[in-house]
Amino acid sequence: MRLFGRSQQEDAGRAGLLRGGEKNAFGIDLGTCNIKIFNNTTSRITTQKNMIAIQNRQTMIAYGDSAYEMFEKSPASIKVTSPIGGGVIADIQNMERLLNSLIRDQQRGQLRGADYYLTIPSDVTEVEKRSFYDLVKDSGIRARSVYAVDKAIADGLGLGIDINNSQGCLVVDVGYDTTEVSILSLGGIVLSKLLKTGGRAFDTAVITAVRREYNLIIGQRTAENARTLLSTTTGNKTSIPVFGRDIVTGLPMEKILKAEFVSAALKENFRSICDQVKVILERTPPELSADIYRNGIFLTGGACQQEGLADQLARTCQLDANVPDAPVETAARGLAQVIRKASCRNLAYTIEGLGNYG
Ligand SMILES: Nc1ncnc2c1ncn2[C@@H]1O[C@H](COP(=O)(O)OP(=O)(O)OP(=O)(O)O)[C@@H](O)[C@H]1O
Ligand SMILES: [Mg+2]
Repeated sequence: MRLFGRSQQEDAGRAGLLRGGEKNAFGIDLGTCNIKIFNNTTSRITTQKNMIAIQNRQTMIAYGDSAYEMFEKSPASIKVTSPIGGGVIADIQNMERLLNSLIRDQQRGQLRGADYYLTIPSDVTEVEKRSFYDLVKDSGIRARSVYAVDKAIADGLGLGIDINNSQGCLVVDVGYDTTEVSILSLGGIVLSKLLKTGGRAFDTAVITAVRREYNLIIGQRTAENARTLLSTTTGNKTSIPVFGRDIVTGLPMEKILKAEFVSAALKENFRSICDQVKVILERTPPELSADIYRNGIFLTGGACQQEGLADQLARTCQLDANVPDAPVETAARGLAQVIRKASCRNLAYTIEGLGNYG
């Protein structure tokens, strides 16, 4: 197996240029919003929405991105849901169907025995951890073995941190339902806190503000679309039309949303994230604080790209805030390293007995 330097591997991997890894292995970051799958054979990371569309309570008619297309638009007979909530598996049966379909697509319809590496949030119970293991074992994807990697560790690796040797790194993963704040040192997690906030809470804040200001009810997809397009980090627009239902007349209506309006709506959410990061910093052993001061905050997770968040964190904590390229894929890039680099193998553990990597 050839090992690549981090940036070469990322660039080549994304372009699909790497020679595939020898062993049939998958790294899976099961997010509430997006499932990211690293396929060791093709060296590619695939991202699909964590959604499934079920008709008449039994037939799966769509999954992944195509199920998301139906979200908030389907008739009563079709239920479009995400089987993960708050970072943990909420609907095991549908999660199994979804995972089976996604892995089947990865292997062109023919399931072969493979090793699976999963990211696990650190601040969850043993029962919740075990449910990730059961999911892979029971979803009929022919798992030879299942390994867990703490999400914060996978994030750190994906961000290019030399996890086994670095001391004192603060990683903040702002996802959809969760924000995980962790202090890493010498290959382990010193402190970690899982907050129930992220992109979904940002959408809700925009929906509430639009309703209060304009008497307009908008859907979650509209809210997400507006806040990402109005974020200079991606959209670079200063205003955008949104469509919804007028509360008073009940009729469809259009309003123009300005970037400043969205920023103001998100202020409170940003403040609560900043406060929690400060709480973790206050509990950090002083020797590590010095390293964190030097390294700054490592941000990741899709919602860390929301305009203003990195600035506010940097100001509140008086530290530099680093935002990577493609933050949605960070943890999956970390899993790729655990699968491919012998020096990272110690970071994976088996979930069954919660022991070390064999
Ligand atoms: N350019 C962007 N600007 C702002 N937010 C963005 C951008 N791109 C994606 N997001 C947000 O990132 C979130 C998804 O990120 P991510 O895939 O990291 O979450 P997840 O891993 O599925 O969730 P969790 O970790 O909470 O289970 C969505 O809320 C989405 O709106
Ligand atoms: Mg995530």
